[in-house]
Amino acid sequence: MVTPINSTLEWARLQQLAVEHQDFDLRAAFAANGKRAEELTFRAGDLIVDLSKHLVDTEIVKGLVGLAESAGLRSRIDSMFGGEHLNVTEDRAVMHVALRADEEDHLVVDGRDPVPEVQGVVERMEEFSARVRNQEWLGHTGRPVTDVVNIGIGGSDLGPAMAYRALRPCVKPGLRAHFVSNIDPADLFSVVATVDPESTLFIVSSKSFTTLETLTNARSARDWLVDKLGEQAVSSHFVAISTNEDEVAAFGIDPDNMFGFWDWVGGRYSMDSAIGLSLMISIGPERFREMLSGFRTIDLHFRTTPIERNVPALLGLIGIWYRNFLGLDTYAVLPYSNDLARFPAYLQQLDMESNGKRTRIDGSPVEVDTGPIVWGEPGTNGQHAFFQLLHQGTTVVPADLIGFVEPIDDIGDQHVLLLGNLIAQAEALGFGRTSDEVAASGVPPELVAHRTFPGNRPTSVLLAPKLTPSVLGQLIALYEHKVFTQGTIWQINSFDQWGVELGKQLATKVIDELSSASEPELEHDASTNTLIETYRRRG
Ligand code: F6P
Repeated sequence: MVTPINSTLEWARLQQLAVEHQDFDLRAAFAANGKRAEELTFRAGDLIVDLSKHLVDTEIVKGLVGLAESAGLRSRIDSMFGGEHLNVTEDRAVMHVALRADEEDHLVVDGRDPVPEVQGVVERMEEFSARVRNQEWLGHTGRPVTDVVNIGIGGSDLGPAMAYRALRPCVKPGLRAHFVSNIDPADLFSVVATVDPESTLFIVSSKSFTTLETLTNARSARDWLVDKLGEQAVSSHFVAISTNEDEVAAFGIDPDNMFGFWDWVGGRYSMDSAIGLSLMISIGPERFREMLSGFRTIDLHFRTTPIERNVPALLGLIGIWYRNFLGLDTYAVLPYSNDLARFPAYLQQLDMESNGKRTRIDGSPVEVDTGPIVWGEPGTNGQHAFFQLLHQGTTVVPADLIGFVEPIDDIGDQHVLLLGNLIAQAEALGFGRTSDEVAASGVPPELVAHRTFPGNRPTSVLLAPKLTPSVLGQLIALYEHKVFTQGTIWQINSFDQWGVELGKQLATKVIDELSSASEPELEHDASTNTLIETYRRRG
């Protein structure tokens, strides 16, 4: 039985600090400490992370670091890197850090060093990617590949789809990647309508190779291809990424055209495994390796930096402060980069599937709030949609604002407009505008309240030199380890996802009832029965 985190002295101390700091005010905190910005700005790899506009002071940060120590964060980091089976409910190690290890790094998982095997798969991916990119891998009719279609969902889709978009300038001209995930046929159909079967390569990506959406879309894609080019075409137009060789073979894909990974890579931690093949083909092996080295930079930082300067740990701990001590239940990610448009969706799975749990690792119920609701959209678009609530709503939403010093596309002064907006929004959220200031600016008295901004709306500002493959890898690893830190404090298993099972099981039953030729006997609740009957009457 683990000692519940909320019965530790450190937890009690933070509760006391929350009461004492009820009136915490960012303006006053900055006025009282001229070095606050400097003291609360940290560096990890190429990332500069300004945490000074959070509702914390040195005492609170010290309390949070103490909490991390009492939760055993340091030894859990060592356990992860040491290959221990931290995923207790599935009895698996948590070793995604091996995916980006250097050849000279030595790790151990289940009595073996995974690094040579990982490198072996990366080399096969590199060789395959080079053949596709150099037009040596030919389709059934001898045409080179112009379109790559990744069919996968969740962790087998969101990572490569997000990174393909994020690394747009690195994509080889003339090669397009598409990502099909939804079981809604609109997803696949809208892609096949735009591609030529003779020059299209399908990558079926599924860790389990049993996922309904992926297997259904893959079968439909296969039927489409066979209809256009015949059965013989399948071997040159389909490859698979999976841990399940038997199912890949059963689907009809030659295991020689399969790229493997391991059960110690969770789906949502797999974009830097073979699951990234569509990305590697698009951006090239060299850029892909740069991304891996970015991940590794933050892995090293997380593993070796003391908690008080450890950026993923601090981000996680500040999140704990809001969730557990200030009672805030959502958290926004706002990239000031259109190319990072899919980053919030990627982080939603990473964070909410990892830490949306209510049971501790020992099976006892968690007595404190766990993972927050993660959401977001790129700035500046969000400013013209939901920022009204961020500035003046009754709910406080902590947010991460992510920006880049150098532009990707240098058109006029647009980049400086973008970055200026990021910096200004963080300032406006943090410091607001008092009613006195509003009145003094000549606003009519009846509008003063409407035009007053409370401030004290906390943000992190993450600045990197440029959105390169390495920086993207650094950002992803930063959030992976933030999630790890929070899962450690909450004493939950961040690496299973039993919460997705019930819906899957019930869907199988409901689908049978919707499509049954004879009238099924419905034994659900009245609402579910009526919905099924409504569909059947219509059919
Ligand atoms: O539905 C949950 C889930 O298992 C995710 O964790 C995973 O990323 C996704 O489905 C896809 O799984 P697979 O790669 O096995 O098809």
